[in-house]
Amino acid sequence: MCGIIGCVGRPDETLDVLMHGLGKLEYRGYDSAGVALADGDVGGRLAVAKRAGELDALRSVVDHTGTADGDLEGSVGIGHTRWSTHGPPTDANAHPHTDCGSRVAIVHNGIIENFQGLRDDLEAAGHEFTSETDSEVVTHLIEAALDEGASPEGAFRAAIARIEGSYTIAAVFAGTEAVFAARNDSPLVLGLGESATYIASDIPAFREFTDRVVYPDDGEFVRLDAGGGGWTVSDADGEEITKEIDTVAWDAEDTGKSGFEHFMLKEIHEQPRSLRQCLRGRVDELGGRIELPEIEELDPTAVQFVAAGTSYHAALYGAALFRAAGVPAQAFLASEYVTSVPPIGDDLVIGVTQSGETADTLSALREARGRGAETLALTNVVGSTVARECEHVLYIRAGPEIGVAASKTFASQLAAINLLTLATVEDGNREVIAALRDLPSTVQAVLDESTAETVADAYADAGAYFFIGRGLNFSVALEGALKLKEITYRHAEGFAAGELKHGPLALVTQETPVIAVATGDGELARKTVGNVKEVEARGAPVIAVTDGRSDVERYADHVLSVPETHPRTAAVLASVQLQLFAYHTAADLGRSIDKPRNLAKSVTVE
Ligand code: M6R
Repeated sequence: MCGIIGCVGRPDETLDVLMHGLGKLEYRGYDSAGVALADGDVGGRLAVAKRAGELDALRSVVDHTGTADGDLEGSVGIGHTRWSTHGPPTDANAHPHTDCGSRVAIVHNGIIENFQGLRDDLEAAGHEFTSETDSEVVTHLIEAALDEGASPEGAFRAAIARIEGSYTIAAVFAGTEAVFAARNDSPLVLGLGESATYIASDIPAFREFTDRVVYPDDGEFVRLDAGGGGWTVSDADGEEITKEIDTVAWDAEDTGKSGFEHFMLKEIHEQPRSLRQCLRGRVDELGGRIELPEIEELDPTAVQFVAAGTSYHAALYGAALFRAAGVPAQAFLASEYVTSVPPIGDDLVIGVTQSGETADTLSALREARGRGAETLALTNVVGSTVARECEHVLYIRAGPEIGVAASKTFASQLAAINLLTLATVEDGNREVIAALRDLPSTVQAVLDESTAETVADAYADAGAYFFIGRGLNFSVALEGALKLKEITYRHAEGFAAGELKHGPLALVTQETPVIAVATGDGELARKTVGNVKEVEARGAPVIAVTDGRSDVERYADHVLSVPETHPRTAAVLASVQLQLFAYHTAADLGRSIDKPRNLAKSVTVE
């Protein structure tokens, strides 16, 4: 949703750290951005700069010597990059927000549900609001507490005690060399450097400066102090809490573009490596076994998946794998799950979520847990909320994904789901194990030989695109369509190939390319070929994603080839072709590929 960074360090470096951190967090929101700095001088003041638009708009006013908003120097600071919920993206609605007397500045990620009542009371008491945001109430609550004689920390705690909803909030005070933060249902991680300390919504914001991190829990408060890197985590009563210090397992370079034009393209090309990471140490090919000590107690007799977006498509794939192994399984859209919770019984409820912070998925899992279900998190982000709330966690180990549209994490979700079924409900499936072993190199072959760019060029002007597939390739078709709509803003839909004739076929014309995913030579492929003939007969251009084992090519105008492999891994290879197709179409259209309009990587509101 939004991205937050905070730093206590050297006065001549803090602004640079904040701007660097915001650059790394822009994937979380890019409607507007801002920073606030403070120093410890008695009678000191806050310097604030904020602008609507992407980070470059802020960069243009932040020059290290000062701005119209004030001299931007200070040993402590906070920054924010926004994905709007309350109020459009304007300078005034950009964070940080300040109180009437400019004594405190805050940044907020989440939603304050009781803001309207608080705002009414504060306005009645004479506080003047300058934005339409829910967040601004926090500054005036703090101000009211300061007016009653509270210390900065006391005022911060008093304000947090009044608000309801989801939040990470960070604050700096004029004349105080400290950053204060609190979290509830929203991510916050603490970074411990040699001579500086950091807080952020996500590790990439400060990874370049340190690999030592602490994960505060919901309801906890963080205080970073100047001078020697002091930090504390405490509970709502102010009692200090001893926290473990973790070491981040990936490097700062992993969050750079490595020479690629976009993060998404880099992440698509990283898939051989991220898949290797996912599989490493987990596949005992000789023994025909999967080693997953973290879930060895699991013995599911029925499974429910909950997930959103791309992760939902991985969940559909996962449910199909469990069913194929004879275990009843269903995938649910997390946002719908809570509206009509299915009977849970002994089902294992699996939350699939790259970020581990998706509010819809967390709610669905909480609902399931509240009804007694055992839960498993399948996630990419170590220490994320989902990882801490579920009894079991299986990490997909894809490494940081910055492009808003998921790519390498989808492939790793599919690989991890195979590991999960092999470890829990399948008795030694050597064919799948061998295909998984080869998956990184077969993905590399797809990347090396893909003609997706040429095919994308041929259809960049199409009015709409339809993706079809059956079985596991149905989830691939849905994901291919989602990818295309996210980054091209073109109309795209995925359909079960057999369903096309029941209605959507009415949309098919010479202007609508149909992308048919048909791998293998079995019944599903043969039936998909039948559906391809139906669209071909109506004049639609056909792009076939195939391993050449069916005769789909005979009816296709273009072919995107994948190597022959097991049907389960063929789905991963086909999705790589569709990622490239979406990417190159978006590039032809000149879209903002890494930061598509209206979207954010991590959706922390319901
Ligand atoms: O972090 P999650 O996997 O829970 O995110 C769920 C969706 O918001 C996410 O997959 C979204 O659809 C991506 N932008 C897909 O590209």
